[in-house]
Amino acid sequence: MLDSIINEFDKALKVLTVDTPAQRTRPDVDIKDSLSLTSKERKNHSKFMRVNHSGEICAQALYRGQLLFNKNTKIQKQLEDAATEELDHLAWCQLRIRELNGRTSYLNPMLYIGSFAIGSIASIIDEKYNLGFLSETEKQVSSHLENHLSKISTKDKKTIAIIKQMKEEEEKHEASAKLMGAKELPSFINEAMKLTSKIMTESTFRI
Ligand SMILES: [Fe+2]
Ligand SMILES: [Fe+2]
Repeated sequence: MLDSIINEFDKALKVLTVDTPAQRTRPDVDIKDSLSLTSKERKNHSKFMRVNHSGEICAQALYRGQLLFNKNTKIQKQLEDAATEELDHLAWCQLRIRELNGRTSYLNPMLYIGSFAIGSIASIIDEKYNLGFLSETEKQVSSHLENHLSKISTKDKKTIAIIKQMKEEEEKHEASAKLMGAKELPSFINEAMKLTSKIMTESTFRI
């Protein structure tokens, strides 16, 4: 167990401090950056990507927390596959933020710790609720990505391509959690999650 904790600590530090290398090609690789974006649009888009980047930090922490206590090997494989895809999302967001001259959120270390704790607790309490929690998280992430797509200037085809690919994959993660037997969460938990997600998105847009 001590080895696993040290390993997790190392993973957390890497996610929070080192540039994450992407395993797959960026979805916007063949698209040229739009020179017609105004500085205001660039600034705003970098903030949307900052929110998405923080969402990916949370996803990483959530998956790691769940993996630490999960004992079901089938679930473990799915969690690991999804976590690997989320690492690409993290890398793509990081790079796009930099291209838009933005920065990542100062709240990320705090968000990582909180999400890791939630993932661990969910995993300890009940396997099926754990999956239910995961499926609901992915659903909420997809819906805020959809919301960002409606706010981003259509001129910024690069950012749009990244968000669309991420959204597709979050939907896939939600579906696979359901396939593995995710239990529907009590509605008060869904509501609490929506509220937390709203606070998270609004605060990382600014800080
Ligand atoms: Fe993601
Ligand atoms: Fe996801």
